[in-house]
Amino acid sequence: MIETGEFDFENRLVAPQVIKDDDSDTDYSLRPKTLSEYIGQDKVKENMSVYIEAAKKRGEPLDHVLLYGPPGLGKTTLSNIIAHEMGVNIRVTSGPAIEKTGDLAALLTSLQQGDVLFIDEIHRLSRAIEEILYPALEDFAIDFMIGNGPAARSIRIDLQRFTLIGATTRSGQLSAPLRDRFGIIQRLELYSTEDLAEIITRSAVILGVAIDREAAYEMASRSRGTPRIANRFLKRVRDYADVMSDGRITKDIAKIALDRMEVDNLGLDSLDKRMLSMIINGYNGGPVGLETLASAIGEEAVTLEDVCEPFLMQLGFLARTPRGRCATELAYKHLGIKKPGGEASEQTTLY
Ligand code: ADE
Repeated sequence: MIETGEFDFENRLVAPQVIKDDDSDTDYSLRPKTLSEYIGQDKVKENMSVYIEAAKKRGEPLDHVLLYGPPGLGKTTLSNIIAHEMGVNIRVTSGPAIEKTGDLAALLTSLQQGDVLFIDEIHRLSRAIEEILYPALEDFAIDFMIGNGPAARSIRIDLQRFTLIGATTRSGQLSAPLRDRFGIIQRLELYSTEDLAEIITRSAVILGVAIDREAAYEMASRSRGTPRIANRFLKRVRDYADVMSDGRITKDIAKIALDRMEVDNLGLDSLDKRMLSMIINGYNGGPVGLETLASAIGEEAVTLEDVCEPFLMQLGFLARTPRGRCATELAYKHLGIKKPGGEASEQTTLY
Protein backbone atom coordinates (compact mmCIF):
# COMPACT_ATOMS: atom_id res chain seq x y z
CA MET A 1 0.00 0.00 0.00
CA ILE A 2 1.45 3.36 -0.99
CA GLU A 3 0.85 6.29 1.29
CA THR A 4 -0.02 9.56 -0.37
CA GLY A 5 -0.75 13.07 0.78
CA GLU A 6 1.11 15.96 2.31
CA PHE A 7 4.50 15.17 3.73
CA ASP A 8 5.55 16.88 6.94
CA PHE A 9 8.75 18.57 5.75
CA GLU A 10 9.12 20.73 8.84
CA ASN A 11 9.82 17.57 10.79
CA ARG A 12 11.41 15.38 8.16
CA LEU A 13 14.43 14.17 10.06
CA VAL A 14 16.38 13.34 6.92
CA ALA A 15 15.57 16.64 5.17
CA PRO A 16 18.85 18.08 3.93
CA GLN A 17 17.39 21.62 4.04
CA VAL A 18 17.48 23.61 7.26
CA ILE A 19 14.57 22.60 9.54
CA LYS A 20 13.34 24.17 12.80
CA ASP A 21 15.97 22.70 15.07
CA ASP A 22 19.05 23.36 12.91
CA ASP A 23 19.37 27.06 13.45
CA SER A 24 20.16 27.07 17.13
CA ASP A 25 23.30 28.35 18.85
CA THR A 26 24.31 24.71 19.33
CA ASP A 27 24.25 24.21 15.61
CA TYR A 28 26.49 27.25 15.05
CA SER A 29 28.98 25.90 17.58
CA LEU A 30 29.25 22.68 15.55
CA ARG A 31 30.25 24.44 12.34
CA PRO A 32 33.96 24.40 11.56
CA LYS A 33 35.57 27.84 11.42
CA THR A 34 38.75 27.03 9.46
CA LEU A 35 39.64 24.86 6.47
CA SER A 36 41.71 22.59 8.70
CA GLU A 37 38.68 21.90 10.93
CA TYR A 38 36.50 21.19 7.90
CA ILE A 39 36.19 17.43 7.33
CA GLY A 40 35.74 15.89 3.85
CA GLN A 41 35.41 17.57 0.42
CA ASP A 42 39.17 17.11 0.06
CA LYS A 43 39.41 18.28 -3.54
CA VAL A 44 37.46 21.48 -2.86
CA LYS A 45 39.53 22.15 0.26
CA GLU A 46 42.83 21.63 -1.56
CA ASN A 47 41.80 23.88 -4.44
CA MET A 48 40.39 26.60 -2.22
CA SER A 49 43.44 26.69 0.03
CA VAL A 50 45.66 27.31 -3.02
CA TYR A 51 43.38 30.05 -4.38
CA ILE A 52 43.13 31.70 -0.96
CA GLU A 53 46.87 31.61 -0.37
CA ALA A 54 47.62 32.96 -3.84
CA ALA A 55 45.11 35.82 -3.48
CA LYS A 56 46.55 36.71 -0.07
CA LYS A 57 50.11 36.60 -1.41
CA ARG A 58 49.16 39.02 -4.18
CA GLY A 59 47.20 41.18 -1.76
CA GLU A 60 44.11 40.85 -3.96
CA PRO A 61 40.53 39.86 -3.22
CA LEU A 62 39.65 36.26 -4.06
CA ASP A 63 38.05 35.68 -7.46
CA HIS A 64 34.27 35.09 -7.46
CA VAL A 65 33.35 31.56 -6.34
CA LEU A 66 30.38 29.36 -7.30
CA LEU A 67 29.67 26.43 -4.96
CA TYR A 68 27.13 23.90 -6.17
CA GLY A 69 25.81 20.53 -5.06
CA PRO A 70 22.95 18.96 -3.10
CA PRO A 71 21.59 20.80 -0.02
CA GLY A 72 23.06 20.31 3.45
CA LEU A 73 26.68 19.75 2.40
CA GLY A 74 28.08 22.92 3.96
CA LYS A 75 28.08 25.56 1.24
CA THR A 76 27.28 28.32 3.76
CA THR A 77 29.80 26.93 6.25
CA LEU A 78 32.49 26.81 3.58
CA SER A 79 31.75 30.41 2.55
CA ASN A 80 32.16 31.57 6.13
CA ILE A 81 35.44 29.68 6.29
CA ILE A 82 36.67 31.28 3.06
CA ALA A 83 35.91 34.76 4.42
CA HIS A 84 37.60 33.85 7.72
CA GLU A 85 40.70 32.49 5.97
CA MET A 86 40.88 35.61 3.78
CA GLY A 87 40.52 37.75 6.91
CA VAL A 88 37.51 39.68 5.55
CA ASN A 89 33.88 40.31 6.50
CA ILE A 90 31.01 38.31 5.03
CA ARG A 91 27.49 39.52 4.21
CA VAL A 92 24.97 36.71 3.82
CA THR A 93 21.82 36.84 1.73
CA SER A 94 19.87 34.68 -0.70
CA GLY A 95 18.45 34.92 -4.22
CA PRO A 96 14.79 35.12 -3.15
CA ALA A 97 15.59 37.71 -0.42
CA ILE A 98 16.87 40.24 -2.97
CA GLU A 99 13.60 41.51 -4.38
CA LYS A 100 14.43 44.99 -5.63
CA THR A 101 17.46 46.30 -7.50
CA GLY A 102 17.84 48.82 -4.67
CA ASP A 103 18.26 45.92 -2.16
CA LEU A 104 21.24 44.64 -4.10
CA ALA A 105 22.68 48.13 -4.62
CA ALA A 106 22.50 48.78 -0.87
CA LEU A 107 24.31 45.52 -0.17
CA LEU A 108 27.00 46.09 -2.76
CA THR A 109 27.75 49.67 -1.73
CA SER A 110 28.14 48.58 1.91
CA LEU A 111 30.99 46.15 1.10
CA GLN A 112 34.57 47.02 1.97
CA GLN A 113 37.66 46.06 -0.02
CA GLY A 114 37.95 42.24 -0.25
CA ASP A 115 34.68 41.51 1.60
CA VAL A 116 32.64 38.43 0.71
CA LEU A 117 29.03 38.71 -0.41
CA PHE A 118 27.41 35.30 -0.05
CA ILE A 119 24.25 34.71 -2.08
CA ASP A 120 22.56 31.39 -1.32
CA GLU A 121 20.18 29.94 -3.91
CA ILE A 122 21.71 32.25 -6.46
CA HIS A 123 19.74 30.54 -9.25
CA ARG A 124 16.64 32.28 -7.86
CA LEU A 125 17.83 35.84 -8.57
CA SER A 126 15.51 37.70 -10.88
CA ARG A 127 16.69 38.80 -14.32
CA ALA A 128 16.66 42.48 -13.34
CA ILE A 129 18.89 41.79 -10.34
CA GLU A 130 21.26 39.68 -12.43
CA GLU A 131 21.66 42.60 -14.83
CA ILE A 132 22.85 44.82 -11.97
CA LEU A 133 25.23 42.12 -10.84
CA TYR A 134 27.12 41.74 -14.13
CA PRO A 135 29.03 45.08 -14.09
CA ALA A 136 29.39 44.74 -10.31
CA LEU A 137 31.22 41.44 -10.80
CA GLU A 138 33.28 42.50 -13.78
CA ASP A 139 34.03 46.19 -13.33
CA PHE A 140 33.18 46.64 -9.64
CA ALA A 141 30.61 49.28 -10.52
CA ILE A 142 26.84 49.56 -10.74
CA ASP A 143 24.89 51.51 -13.31
CA PHE A 144 21.71 53.31 -12.33
CA MET A 145 19.13 54.82 -14.63
CA ILE A 146 17.67 58.06 -13.39
CA GLY A 147 14.69 59.74 -14.94
CA ASN A 148 12.47 58.55 -17.78
CA GLY A 149 12.18 59.08 -21.51
CA PRO A 150 14.62 61.31 -23.40
CA ALA A 151 15.90 62.90 -20.19
CA ALA A 152 16.86 59.53 -18.71
CA ARG A 153 20.54 59.04 -18.05
CA SER A 154 22.69 56.45 -16.44
CA ILE A 155 25.03 57.10 -13.56
CA ARG A 156 27.79 54.79 -12.46
CA ILE A 157 28.72 54.13 -8.84
CA ASP A 158 32.09 52.57 -8.15
CA LEU A 159 32.29 49.71 -5.66
CA GLN A 160 35.10 48.31 -3.56
CA ARG A 161 36.62 45.16 -5.05
CA PHE A 162 34.71 42.31 -3.40
CA THR A 163 34.25 38.55 -3.78
CA LEU A 164 30.87 37.07 -4.61
CA ILE A 165 30.31 33.53 -3.38
CA GLY A 166 27.20 32.07 -4.98
CA ALA A 167 25.69 28.81 -3.80
CA THR A 168 23.18 26.71 -5.66
CA THR A 169 21.74 23.23 -5.67
CA ARG A 170 21.13 23.52 -9.39
CA SER A 171 23.99 24.88 -11.44
CA GLY A 172 22.07 23.98 -14.61
CA GLN A 173 19.49 26.64 -13.78
CA LEU A 174 22.04 29.41 -13.57
CA SER A 175 22.06 31.64 -16.62
CA ALA A 176 25.19 31.22 -18.76
CA PRO A 177 26.27 34.90 -18.45
CA LEU A 178 26.13 34.68 -14.67
CA ARG A 179 27.94 31.32 -14.51
CA ASP A 180 30.68 32.67 -16.79
CA ARG A 181 31.49 35.44 -14.34
CA PHE A 182 32.69 33.02 -11.65
CA GLY A 183 36.43 32.43 -11.86
CA ILE A 184 36.23 29.53 -9.39
CA ILE A 185 33.54 26.84 -9.69
CA GLN A 186 33.52 24.02 -7.14
CA ARG A 187 31.16 21.08 -6.84
CA LEU A 188 30.47 19.66 -3.37
CA GLU A 189 29.89 15.89 -3.25
CA LEU A 190 27.84 13.79 -0.85
CA TYR A 191 30.12 12.79 2.07
CA SER A 192 31.48 9.29 2.67
CA THR A 193 30.38 7.33 5.74
CA GLU A 194 33.93 7.68 7.15
CA ASP A 195 33.85 11.47 6.85
CA LEU A 196 30.38 11.64 8.40
CA ALA A 197 31.49 9.43 11.31
CA GLU A 198 34.40 11.84 11.88
CA ILE A 199 32.03 14.83 11.75
CA ILE A 200 29.69 13.15 14.27
CA THR A 201 32.61 12.35 16.57
CA ARG A 202 33.89 15.95 16.35
CA SER A 203 30.41 17.32 17.08
CA ALA A 204 30.01 14.92 20.02
CA VAL A 205 33.23 16.28 21.53
CA ILE A 206 31.92 19.87 21.16
CA LEU A 207 28.59 18.90 22.73
CA GLY A 208 30.33 16.94 25.50
CA VAL A 209 28.60 13.66 24.61
CA ALA A 210 30.36 10.30 24.96
CA ILE A 211 29.93 8.20 21.82
CA ASP A 212 31.24 4.80 20.72
CA ARG A 213 33.00 4.51 17.38
CA GLU A 214 30.48 1.95 16.07
CA ALA A 215 27.63 4.23 17.11
CA ALA A 216 29.13 7.09 15.10
CA TYR A 217 29.35 4.75 12.09
CA GLU A 218 25.78 3.53 12.57
CA MET A 219 24.52 7.12 12.52
CA ALA A 220 26.85 8.12 9.68
CA SER A 221 25.66 5.30 7.45
CA ARG A 222 22.07 6.51 7.78
CA SER A 223 22.85 10.21 7.21
CA ARG A 224 22.54 10.08 3.39
CA GLY A 225 25.91 11.70 2.79
CA THR A 226 24.84 14.92 4.53
CA PRO A 227 26.51 16.52 7.61
CA ARG A 228 23.41 18.53 8.45
CA ILE A 229 21.47 15.28 8.84
CA ALA A 230 24.33 13.62 10.75
CA ASN A 231 24.45 16.46 13.30
CA ARG A 232 20.67 16.40 13.63
CA PHE A 233 20.76 12.66 14.36
CA LEU A 234 23.44 13.23 16.97
CA LYS A 235 21.25 15.66 18.88
CA ARG A 236 18.20 13.38 18.76
CA VAL A 237 20.12 10.18 19.59
CA ARG A 238 21.70 12.00 22.54
CA ASP A 239 18.14 12.54 23.85
CA TYR A 240 17.51 8.78 23.71
CA ALA A 241 20.85 8.07 25.40
CA ASP A 242 20.05 10.54 28.20
CA VAL A 243 16.58 9.07 28.78
CA MET A 244 17.27 5.38 28.19
CA SER A 245 20.70 5.00 29.79
CA ASP A 246 23.60 6.97 31.24
CA GLY A 247 23.95 9.39 28.33
CA ARG A 248 26.63 7.45 26.45
CA ILE A 249 25.73 6.83 22.82
CA THR A 250 26.31 3.17 22.05
CA LYS A 251 25.58 1.37 18.81
CA ASP A 252 22.48 -0.23 20.37
CA ILE A 253 21.08 3.12 21.50
CA ALA A 254 21.81 4.65 18.09
CA LYS A 255 20.03 1.78 16.33
CA ILE A 256 16.99 1.94 18.60
CA ALA A 257 16.73 5.71 18.29
CA LEU A 258 17.09 5.78 14.50
CA ASP A 259 14.68 2.88 14.04
CA ARG A 260 12.13 4.72 16.17
CA MET A 261 12.65 7.81 14.04
CA GLU A 262 11.79 5.59 11.05
CA VAL A 263 15.07 6.10 9.26
CA ASP A 264 16.08 2.76 7.75
CA ASN A 265 19.53 1.17 7.74
CA LEU A 266 20.58 3.09 4.64
CA GLY A 267 18.98 6.42 5.60
CA LEU A 268 15.82 6.13 3.51
CA ASP A 269 12.69 7.58 5.04
CA SER A 270 9.06 7.26 4.03
CA LEU A 271 9.31 9.88 1.26
CA ASP A 272 12.14 8.03 -0.50
CA LYS A 273 10.22 4.80 -0.14
CA ARG A 274 7.02 6.31 -1.46
CA MET A 275 8.89 7.58 -4.48
CA LEU A 276 10.49 4.21 -5.22
CA SER A 277 7.29 2.27 -4.47
CA MET A 278 5.33 4.47 -6.85
CA ILE A 279 7.83 3.90 -9.66
CA ILE A 280 7.76 0.16 -9.01
CA ASN A 281 4.08 -0.43 -8.26
CA GLY A 282 2.51 2.43 -10.19
CA TYR A 283 4.71 2.43 -13.30
CA ASN A 284 6.16 -1.08 -13.51
CA GLY A 285 9.57 0.14 -12.40
CA GLY A 286 9.65 3.06 -14.85
CA PRO A 287 10.53 4.95 -16.88
CA VAL A 288 8.21 7.62 -15.53
CA GLY A 289 8.54 11.38 -15.96
CA LEU A 290 9.47 13.39 -12.89
CA GLU A 291 6.36 15.62 -12.99
CA THR A 292 4.05 12.61 -13.34
CA LEU A 293 5.78 10.89 -10.47
CA ALA A 294 5.64 13.99 -8.27
CA SER A 295 1.92 14.51 -8.80
CA ALA A 296 1.24 10.79 -8.27
CA ILE A 297 2.72 11.00 -4.77
CA GLY A 298 1.52 14.54 -4.10
CA GLU A 299 4.94 16.19 -3.79
CA GLU A 300 6.82 18.97 -5.56
CA ALA A 301 9.00 17.82 -8.45
CA VAL A 302 11.88 20.03 -7.20
CA THR A 303 11.82 18.28 -3.83
CA LEU A 304 12.15 14.88 -5.43
CA GLU A 305 14.85 16.16 -7.77
CA ASP A 306 16.96 18.05 -5.20
CA VAL A 307 16.40 15.98 -2.10
CA CYS A 308 15.56 12.35 -2.92
CA GLU A 309 17.26 11.80 -6.25
CA PRO A 310 20.93 12.61 -5.52
CA PHE A 311 20.88 10.18 -2.63
CA LEU A 312 18.86 7.43 -4.33
CA MET A 313 21.15 7.66 -7.35
CA GLN A 314 24.25 7.47 -5.17
CA LEU A 315 22.84 4.28 -3.63
CA GLY A 316 22.22 2.94 -7.13
CA PHE A 317 18.46 2.68 -6.47
CA LEU A 318 17.37 5.11 -9.14
CA ALA A 319 18.38 5.67 -12.75
CA ARG A 320 17.63 8.85 -14.69
CA THR A 321 17.05 8.11 -18.37
CA PRO A 322 15.93 10.43 -21.18
CA ARG A 323 12.46 8.81 -20.94
CA GLY A 324 12.13 9.20 -17.19
CA ARG A 325 13.08 7.72 -13.84
CA CYS A 326 13.57 3.97 -13.34
CA ALA A 327 13.89 1.91 -10.17
CA THR A 328 16.89 -0.41 -10.30
CA GLU A 329 17.15 -4.05 -9.25
CA LEU A 330 18.82 -2.88 -6.01
CA ALA A 331 15.77 -0.75 -5.18
CA TYR A 332 13.44 -3.74 -5.65
CA LYS A 333 15.69 -5.75 -3.40
CA HIS A 334 15.88 -3.12 -0.68
CA LEU A 335 12.11 -2.69 -0.62
CA GLY A 336 11.59 -6.48 -0.67
CA ILE A 337 9.59 -6.38 -3.89
CA LYS A 338 9.97 -9.12 -6.48
CA LYS A 339 10.95 -7.77 -9.88
CA PRO A 340 8.81 -9.34 -12.64
CA GLY A 341 11.10 -11.79 -14.43
CA GLY A 342 13.87 -11.00 -11.91
CA GLU A 343 15.32 -13.02 -9.09
CA ALA A 344 13.39 -13.54 -5.88
CA SER A 345 14.26 -10.64 -3.63
CA GLU A 346 14.72 -10.37 0.06
CA GLN A 347 13.46 -7.56 2.21
CA THR A 348 16.37 -6.01 4.09
CA THR A 349 14.35 -3.60 6.19
CA LEU A 350 10.97 -3.39 7.83
CA TYR A 351 8.95 -0.30 7.12
N1 ADE B 1 29.88 20.13 10.56
C1 ADE B 1 29.14 20.24 9.47
N2 ADE B 1 29.88 20.03 8.37
C2 ADE B 1 31.13 19.79 8.77
C3 ADE B 1 32.35 19.48 8.12
N3 ADE B 1 32.43 19.37 6.81
N4 ADE B 1 33.44 19.30 8.88
C4 ADE B 1 33.36 19.38 10.22
N5 ADE B 1 32.25 19.65 10.88
C5 ADE B 1 31.14 19.85 10.18
